Amino acid sequence: MRIIVVGSGIAGLSVAMRASAHHEVVLVTKGALGGGSTAWAQGGIAAAVDDADVAVHFEDTLAAGAGLADPDAVRVLCSEGPHRVAELVGLGVPFDRDRAGFARGREAAHSRRRILHADGDATGAAISRTLVAAVRRATVQVIEHAFLDEVFVVDGRASGVRLLLGGDEVVLRADAAVIATGGWGALYPHTTNPPGATGDGVAAAWRAGAALADLEFVQFHPTALAVPGRPLVSEAVRGEGATLIDERGRRFLVDTHPDGELAPRDVVARAIAAHRASGHEVLLDATGVPGLARRFPGLTTVCLEHGYDWTREPVPVTPAAHYAMGGIATDLHGRSTVPGLYAVGEAARTGVHGANRLASNSLLEGLVFAARVVEALESADPWRGPPVAREQLREAGDIPIERHELAAIAWDHLGLERDAVGLRAAIARLDTAHVAGSTVPDRETRNLLDLARLTARAALRRERSVGAHHRHDAAAHIRSESRPLEVAAC
Ligand code: SIN
Repeated sequence: MRIIVVGSGIAGLSVAMRASAHHEVVLVTKGALGGGSTAWAQGGIAAAVDDADVAVHFEDTLAAGAGLADPDAVRVLCSEGPHRVAELVGLGVPFDRDRAGFARGREAAHSRRRILHADGDATGAAISRTLVAAVRRATVQVIEHAFLDEVFVVDGRASGVRLLLGGDEVVLRADAAVIATGGWGALYPHTTNPPGATGDGVAAAWRAGAALADLEFVQFHPTALAVPGRPLVSEAVRGEGATLIDERGRRFLVDTHPDGELAPRDVVARAIAAHRASGHEVLLDATGVPGLARRFPGLTTVCLEHGYDWTREPVPVTPAAHYAMGGIATDLHGRSTVPGLYAVGEAARTGVHGANRLASNSLLEGLVFAARVVEALESADPWRGPPVAREQLREAGDIPIERHELAAIAWDHLGLERDAVGLRAAIARLDTAHVAGSTVPDRETRNLLDLARLTARAALRRERSVGAHHRHDAAAHIRSESRPLEVAAC
């Protein structure tokens, strides 16, 4: 079979490497091979420490997902994760070690230290380097700097893609296409994501007829450095004991949640935003973390570049858009609702994250479900998930919209706090909006517009606050929602 894989983070690289043993594989990527969010990941990759910990990791993941994660998908993630991580070790990923074996960090809502990391705080880069080398060794045709414009569906089956490549349109035919293009954090003006995170694969899959789900669940990371570009300050720093304080040195999080700084991400992010909005500074105090500069060398450099010596002084932090829990609805083998079209990694909604992703489960998801996609390529089975509908949108309007306006709407109405009035106003404007032009930046804006329209509808429909979706017009924030029988569609 001829397989096109789009995207070269952990998910796309893993699919390409594995599938190349049996298939002709073309790997298409928007930037250079290995570009994208994976290489930016700091904290690490979660994996059960031993057999007994599989069940605990499972429970932690379900709890973080606020009752909306799919237990079958979470079981796959937690039980297959350690095997896939062992394969990464076999490929040569240099996970950090201590006297006891692999060094394991802690992050919020994990009840054990189970986060493997490499080069201190450059885990994603180390994994990416290793997988890029493996793909280079394998028989994979790599096409870099190629933008995914559309997925073709012929007779109800994905049969190829159209790319923009060096100013030309290029059509590639294939027996199957795998979308591994990541999320769309670049919709927001403040994000920890790279600028290319424009949801190209998710939007193209939706236009090709695939159902999306859970778009209302957007995770905001509590601690980006409060400087332009919003560089991420890993949760692993809080896992090692750093505290969040205000200008008076008060640890305000301890009044908000019994787990304080290690409360679920959405709780910490909202508490920081509220404290800042009421006129306080919010600072991360990592000065007491033993061996701070050695454990987090990359972050030490980033802080210094912005004029902060965080070994001596607290640094200002603020929430920023970080991760899309929703995406292309997939079954447990990455099949989308369109035969022949698969999704994996952040682009996919496998159901493992529910309403809120547990820290460091994202690299693991990409790895585990990549292997499952490759298994599924061997069979001709169609979608095996629960019933899911695809939301239709009427044609967009004709009033031009620029990226900065889209970003402002997203921040104001699709951000940490939403309400019906704001969401309706957002939908009204977005539905009149039009993106002209056919350059790559134009097409990226069109993708973000499509996703913003769909996200706003999903957020309006979900009237209760749960996990990362907070409606301040709802009565209370629910810590655990009962699981719906069907995948919530959009
Ligand atoms: C972090 O290092 O805090 C990010 C890890 C993640 O998002 O899972």
